[in-house]
Amino acid sequence: MKKILDILTNEVARAFESAGYDEKYAKVTVSNRPDLCQFQCNGAMAAVKEYKKAPLVIAQDVADKLAGSACFKKAEAVKPGFINLDLDDEALKSYIEEMAESPKYGIEAPAEKEKIIVDYGGPNVAKPLHIGHLRAAIIGESVKRIANYAGHDTLGDIHLGDWGLQMGLIIAYMKENDMDLPTLSELEKIYPAASAKSADDEDFKKKAMDITYELQHGNEEYTKIWQHIMKISVEDLKKNYEKLSVFFEIWKGESDAQPFIDPMVEKMKEDGFAHESQGALVVDVNEESDTKEIPPCMILKSDNASLYTTTDLATLVQRMKDYDPKRVIYVVDKRQDLHFVQVFRCAKKTGIVPEDVKLIFLGFGTMNGADGKPFKTRSGGVMRLETLLSDVYDKCYERMKENGGEMSEDERKDTASKIALAAIKYGDLSNQASKDYIFDIDKFTSFEGNTGPYILYTIVRIKSILRKYEENGGKTDGCKFIPPVSDSERGLLLLLTGYNAMMQGAFEETAPHRVCAYIYELANAFNHFYHETKILAEEDEKRKESYISLLLLTKGILEDSIGVLGFEAPEKM
Ligand code: ARG
Repeated sequence: MKKILDILTNEVARAFESAGYDEKYAKVTVSNRPDLCQFQCNGAMAAVKEYKKAPLVIAQDVADKLAGSACFKKAEAVKPGFINLDLDDEALKSYIEEMAESPKYGIEAPAEKEKIIVDYGGPNVAKPLHIGHLRAAIIGESVKRIANYAGHDTLGDIHLGDWGLQMGLIIAYMKENDMDLPTLSELEKIYPAASAKSADDEDFKKKAMDITYELQHGNEEYTKIWQHIMKISVEDLKKNYEKLSVFFEIWKGESDAQPFIDPMVEKMKEDGFAHESQGALVVDVNEESDTKEIPPCMILKSDNASLYTTTDLATLVQRMKDYDPKRVIYVVDKRQDLHFVQVFRCAKKTGIVPEDVKLIFLGFGTMNGADGKPFKTRSGGVMRLETLLSDVYDKCYERMKENGGEMSEDERKDTASKIALAAIKYGDLSNQASKDYIFDIDKFTSFEGNTGPYILYTIVRIKSILRKYEENGGKTDGCKFIPPVSDSERGLLLLLTGYNAMMQGAFEETAPHRVCAYIYELANAFNHFYHETKILAEEDEKRKESYISLLLLTKGILEDSIGVLGFEAPEKM
């Protein structure tokens, strides 16, 4: 479906033309004075220069031409030269009607369907998931779902950190202490112990580095241990990500890039891109327009060991070969910004990735505690993800008990976990990804305000009205829209018309927070309508049916929206 603003702009363009002005001035926007009008066009002001006429005269000429338009109930020229517009109620109704019948409520399939890879896991094997991985998972899952909803082919890749020094540390520690293959809980203790030991034992650290090198070059004994560690870690990771409703299509890791490293390095040398610098192999990636220095991209250290950049580049080789994506989106801590600038430039320069493929870095900020510092446990340690989840769950469960709604214990538990997920995810996603934010458990779990539970509460409210309607013998299918009569109803309809543009924007800007901002406004508009309107007690059957259609559409849009944010609504709460 065409976007409402495009339809209106078209209509106004015709009026500009027939009044003798260029249609390029006809851009219509949502009004920034909703008390005066629904939409506006400021083009008359811009046209002054070309036509040497007062803006109000131009605006009036155009408004006159719009007088008979079926689109507008009002087209008014006001000082100094705005054109204030109100949509005709019948036209508004028709647009909404078409939306309700369209797949995905009027979102058009993209002109070109893209294959898109989202890289948003990055947990490091053998270390427990902690809240640092929470943001990547939450934002990345949503970015992926938005792209998919917008009509693209998407693949989420966890890109495990499974190949670095931590593996060498663990194996070195196991060997030193003559340990058998560890269980998961043993493994979780080994890494911190090994990492602490390496901090003040040079020999041990050296040994771990040697083991890492040998593992990366096929040592059989180490490979066996590594495979075991991978198996138990991946099982555990799957379980944990599932709790977050985060699902990866690809479970590859840094290790999978290994076979691509040597040929990639050879080619970079042959093509003359890689050169030696202080014993290391580098590719220059600075550009003339740089305002700050971008150091060369290091490909191999002086001891020939590969680095984080090497793995990311080789992973791109592998991704291009296996999937041929048109877009790769990395959802990673924003402190890795420089790393990705180097990797992206190097990949384009050396031809690993063709020019027309978009490489996007969505760097996210830090999740802070109430003190404004990175979130920690009470004792000051890094908080495990599981602990955070269960704290939020407990809080939601408590709030539900206070609310005193009737439900079975099982249902209450299930509902509490749905609310908890909404609280955490919405609390994160409603902020622009690049910003730091404060994790405030009381605020995030509140049923009021700009929170996930408030959105769920609104959906639950709609579900309950629809249930009552059906219990009283009403049928939800076959209900038809009729034009709105009240301001609150009209306001809700108008917001709904902006859905497709919002979702497309969220995709193009890789910006889940736009979905949050929209559904918060939509939930407010719905609740306003709900408080102003007797829905089920409406005596005019046609009007009541139109309300039911409106409820169904609002519910559908809210549900699809929280779907792309990565959570779902319960039946009651
Ligand atoms: N494992 C990395 C870390 O913990 C994050 C990986 C992000 N993705 C990537 N392709 N580099 O910092």
